[in-house]
Amino acid sequence: MIYIAPSLLAADFSILADEINRVETAGAKYLHLDIMDGAFVPNITFGPELVASIRKCTDLFFDVHLMIKRPERYVDRFVKAGADIITFHYEACDNPVSVIHFIHSYEMKAGIAISPNTPVELLYPIINHVDMALIMTVEPGFGGQALIPETLDKVHALRRYASERGIELDIEVDGGIKPENVGLATSAGANIIVAGSSIFKSKKTRTVIQTMKEVAANNPYIG
Ligand code: DX5
Ligand code: ZN
Repeated sequence: MIYIAPSLLAADFSILADEINRVETAGAKYLHLDIMDGAFVPNITFGPELVASIRKCTDLFFDVHLMIKRPERYVDRFVKAGADIITFHYEACDNPVSVIHFIHSYEMKAGIAISPNTPVELLYPIINHVDMALIMTVEPGFGGQALIPETLDKVHALRRYASERGIELDIEVDGGIKPENVGLATSAGANIIVAGSSIFKSKKTRTVIQTMKEVAANNPYIG
């Protein structure tokens, strides 16, 4: 199943409830929430209190992307805030498998993310443990950047590795995705598509989301 996940980072924060309603009524099922700590990445966004607040105004699937050092420190708070999956960075912790098990101990789905310079092979021994792998298609930290095309080779390698072994895995891409390039991501094997600027900065929200869904459906992974 392919899902489009609008990234709240690109929304107008002065009218958050309206912005969430805008993407929900336009056909999104996921909402991607970027949590940045100013240490793992050079930017700061929002924390669990904001997530708990917006939890009251939507049933969208909350796809929480932690860009914070030692993410295990905050799992409990994002679980309580209403996350539906918690994804953390491989580069941000000493023992990723123990963090995955820690997230699962809350009956919460767990995802693992890698930045553009991190080799995808590092995920191979881990993917059996996770619900989702997030291949960053830009350097984490800021919205509105251009997709780095080489990162899609990692998506393809991971999808092939998983499917050859019969492993069902969601593969998410995040950064610089728009209707013009979403087909490259899905044909490489991605099935959860984060898009911030291309959705929230457009006035034709429904058209953008529906076009991305159509392009994705027309460009499946075929091996
Ligand atoms: C970047 C974030 C992304 C970002 C994507 O570190 O993880 O989720 O919001 O934004 P766009 O789609 O504008 O590149
Ligand atoms: Zn993100």
